[in-house]
Amino acid sequence: MNENISLNKISIIEDLSKQPSCSRLEMFFYDTVKSTNDTAKKYALSHPEKEAIFVANGQSAGRGSRNRSFFSPYGTGLYMSFLLSPNEAVKSPAILTCMAAVAVCEAIETALCLNPKIKWVNDIYFNERKVCGVLTEGQSDPENGALLYAIVGIGINLYAPKDGFPDEIKEKAGALLTESRDANVKNKLCSAVIKSFFEMYRGTDKKDFLDGYRSRSLLNDKYVRVNNTGSLDYDGKTALVKGIDDDCRLILRFEDGKSAALSSGEVSLL
Ligand code: BTN
Repeated sequence: MNENISLNKISIIEDLSKQPSCSRLEMFFYDTVKSTNDTAKKYALSHPEKEAIFVANGQSAGRGSRNRSFFSPYGTGLYMSFLLSPNEAVKSPAILTCMAAVAVCEAIETALCLNPKIKWVNDIYFNERKVCGVLTEGQSDPENGALLYAIVGIGINLYAPKDGFPDEIKEKAGALLTESRDANVKNKLCSAVIKSFFEMYRGTDKKDFLDGYRSRSLLNDKYVRVNNTGSLDYDGKTALVKGIDDDCRLILRFEDGKSAALSSGEVSLL
């Protein structure tokens, strides 16, 4: 059985060394850390403008969006963070989140031959279960609001943990694989995510990924319940998803005929 196999950093580094888009990256591998996003943040403070990746086999205090924890058992998942010093073209963390979601899907498609979907804004679903989440955090320049650095954190459930998912998430969480694959599958998935993300990120047209995001969207033409937008005009209401705009906002049409473009908040499928 290969479900609990650790990452092989030599094989991943060798794979990525062939990719021009990854050649300038510092790479750090860990067995267990509290949170790869926190590790990246600490590194950013003492290494301004460096770009680096941080990958772990397990996290003891993995973090999700909205101050939730992210269940990160050792061995069965893949946890990584990318430290970036975004240029002018990448103005918002939301764009990086969406780029990462597309990169994860492309990687799952090539490395595992499976077809996941994206649930706006930061979740990847497979077989109606959440198998991956993305958490982007950034530090802006107080003078002009420009992003000084950004950290894109990605957590993927490759296999289900031996004792199953905890009660709080067991109705929602799932894993990509139910049977063990070759021993190298985790390394392949890891390098495929990194390669795919940095190809998009270094690409000249920073909006290229949007077609990939839209075509994999789970919510196209579906009715959803809107929550956590911070606006009473929207929260708790039902809306039809009309699409995703060029700033990665979710375009909704409410029952009263009004439209909105959400840049934050959550939706659940009805
Ligand atoms: C979410 O589903 O709300 C986002 C989950 C993001 C989890 C990843 S795992 C790697 C990185 N380190 C963290 O602590 N969180 C992100």
